[in-house]
Amino acid sequence: MIWGDKNVLAVGGGKGGVGKSSLAANLGVLLAQQGHAVVLVDADLGAANLHTITGVTYPEKTLDDFIQGRQRSLEDTLLKTPHPGLRLLSSASDVLSIAAPNYAQRQKLLRGIKNLDADTVIFDLAAGTHTRAIDFFSLAPYGIILVEPTPTSLENAYSFVKNLMLRHLMRVFYHEKETREFIKNATDPHRPGHAPHFSELLTQLEARHPAKTEKVRQQFTQAVHSVYLIVNSVRRPDQFKAADRFVRIIKRYLTLNLRILGALPYEPRMDDAIVARVPLVARHPDCGYARGLRQIVTNLGIPPRASASRA
Ligand SMILES: Nc1ncnc2c1ncn2[C@@H]1O[C@H](COP(=O)(O)OP(=O)(O)O)[C@@H](O)[C@H]1O
Ligand SMILES: [Mg+2]
Repeated sequence: MIWGDKNVLAVGGGKGGVGKSSLAANLGVLLAQQGHAVVLVDADLGAANLHTITGVTYPEKTLDDFIQGRQRSLEDTLLKTPHPGLRLLSSASDVLSIAAPNYAQRQKLLRGIKNLDADTVIFDLAAGTHTRAIDFFSLAPYGIILVEPTPTSLENAYSFVKNLMLRHLMRVFYHEKETREFIKNATDPHRPGHAPHFSELLTQLEARHPAKTEKVRQQFTQAVHSVYLIVNSVRRPDQFKAADRFVRIIKRYLTLNLRILGALPYEPRMDDAIVARVPLVARHPDCGYARGLRQIVTNLGIPPRASASRA
């Protein structure tokens, strides 16, 4: 396991404004309250706002300083937050030199994170289905896809999962240039005629590489990359059914077994919490959102730790 004994979570899902940053911040506070030494990584480069949500008024050191070498150690680049046990790697910056980090810069960040003195690392990802968001997501043992029960959010989450699967497929067939070309052509959105569904694509690949394709199938059905689904801003119980439908569609067309982790209710006090710069679970620990999140942590199977004294 590349991360050693660290829990690494990533919150993604394609669409902007569905509550990813709020979830990452509240999850961070909750796990810190449960004794974890938590590091929140604001990976929404160019539109960072975790510092505001967690109450860090002035992020005087950022990821950019580390990547550009102005800060030598990632540990020293972390910012304290008002919440014991929770530290932040901020990306708030007027200088957008790392808006699109290259491969070497991403590797430097990952090495730095691996060496951090932390139990749990949470990535807050940018909206969109581009490679950078997907790559951070697929490296995390706990990949959380956050959706709202709206067709647009589910549509974007579908594209997110599809791109995740395709990236994985490309990695598996990295050394088979012809096969990679075949996959690229088959999934080219501009190609004429019927584009094969992902499951059809797997069947076509089976003819070329039976053993490897079978392995990929197993990985997806067992969800070794552990892709989880959370439905946010649920206003009525029947809206949660959108999750079941979504999971069925993903299984049918993309072959992946998504695990439903739970739902978080619409919470009218969420915006006030952001204005007050105090995450909801710290401000209203008994609200439905906080209770839902505690249940989600239980469902994830991440046990409390006894190391809060470190941060
Ligand atoms: N469960 C919720 N109930 C009510 N409002 C929410 C909830 N989750 C997020 N929000 C609100 O949605 C908006 C976008 O949230 P944010 O976390 O910034 O989304 P993202 O990071 O996905 O773009 C914010 O105004 C936030 O207060
Ligand atoms: Mg965000």
